[in-house]
Amino acid sequence: MATFKFSVLAGDGIGPEVMKAALEVLKTACEREGHTLEYGEHAVGGAGIDKFGKALPESTVEACRSSDAILFGSVGGPKWEKLPPNEQPERAALLPLRKIFKLFANIRPGLLYPEIAEASPLKNARIPNGIDIVCIRELTGGIYFGDKKTWTLENGETAAMDVMQYRVSEIERIAEVAGKTAMARGKKVCSIDKANVIETSVLWRKTVTEYFKKHFPEIELTHLYVDNAAMQLVRDPNQFDVFFTENMFGDILSDEMAVVCGSLGTLCSASLGEIKNSLGLKFGLYEPAGGSAPDIAGKGIANPCAQILSAAMMMRYSFGQDCLAKKIENAVRAAVCGGVRTADIAFGGKTASTEEMKNAVIENL
Ligand code: NAD
Ligand code: IPM
Ligand code: MN
Repeated sequence: MATFKFSVLAGDGIGPEVMKAALEVLKTACEREGHTLEYGEHAVGGAGIDKFGKALPESTVEACRSSDAILFGSVGGPKWEKLPPNEQPERAALLPLRKIFKLFANIRPGLLYPEIAEASPLKNARIPNGIDIVCIRELTGGIYFGDKKTWTLENGETAAMDVMQYRVSEIERIAEVAGKTAMARGKKVCSIDKANVIETSVLWRKTVTEYFKKHFPEIELTHLYVDNAAMQLVRDPNQFDVFFTENMFGDILSDEMAVVCGSLGTLCSASLGEIKNSLGLKFGLYEPAGGSAPDIAGKGIANPCAQILSAAMMMRYSFGQDCLAKKIENAVRAAVCGGVRTADIAFGGKTASTEEMKNAVIENL
């Protein structure tokens, strides 16, 4: 019997809706095994701006610091889009959180159950056995975090610039995560870059090649240019097992992977670094890869699966509860394969609300 201590940052849009569902599932799963959840809910993103005038209030950061993990919803939305760019929820809350807690490795599992292959735009014939791949995205480097500026040129025109920068140690540490992930799976890794054009990609490819030769000689390492990778992901997703890439390419490819696997509403993620929590395990931030979905927010129809599965990842990586994580994952699978589906994965059939989806997961626990 244990107590799991984490911070809940539900954020904006569908964030609070799917978070409520995930917490109920998590509570049920944990309490059945005699475990206790200890969490505080803290304002972040637009909710932080509205309540404290800041997307990432200090009190929220402090609460996260004294937790063993962060369960995050999503931030941003039309209401805050007119603020100066560096005060908006995404840039002023989510990116700083990733940086403060040095969460350089973002793991996004691309899983499509064969039973719902119809939910994928690829349909059954292309993916008779479903999809099971993993995207590993570098999360604290690249163009997201390089110098940026907007300025006026001599002729009066406005120009803007974002610097894309990587150093060898940043590439090596994400290569290590990809290598270790692949060792526990199919020993196959595809590194994705744009080494035919971009200097950081030239360094990326060289570093990755040398790193794998030295540390993972048994892994089959391949390289793809990102444009080709985007195409291959649609053509035949299962040709990949583990693929990994820099920050922005990973952002784009993971949304693509999500929909190939049915819906963005099912894609969970773990952001990890080297910081250990009070249990000696990895401190992490766990969040759906999708956003606040303003188009469906407040309607009670969002798919809570990505948030529920993110909570399962938290159990696995930050609390060492692999068995509990699997129980939650199996319950989601059983609920979805048993026919309970939110609109995004219903492909024309009967649709369930967020609440009904959550109840079905709990019934299948
Ligand atoms: P989005 O991911 O919010 O939505 C894209 C599409 O996917 C929408 O049609 C939406 O309805 C659908 N979708 C996403 N999650 C879903 C779910 N759980 N169930 C059913 N459908 C779902 O992307 P966007 O519209 O480009 O961005 C909206 C806002 O969210 C923006 O402010 C953006 O910056 C922010 N955002 C935040 C995060 C985050 O906090 N982690 C991630 C991505 C986008
Ligand atoms: C994601 C999101 C974020 C990103 C945004 C909201 C900052 O799109 O987690 O994929 O680009 O990393
Ligand atoms: Mn994204």
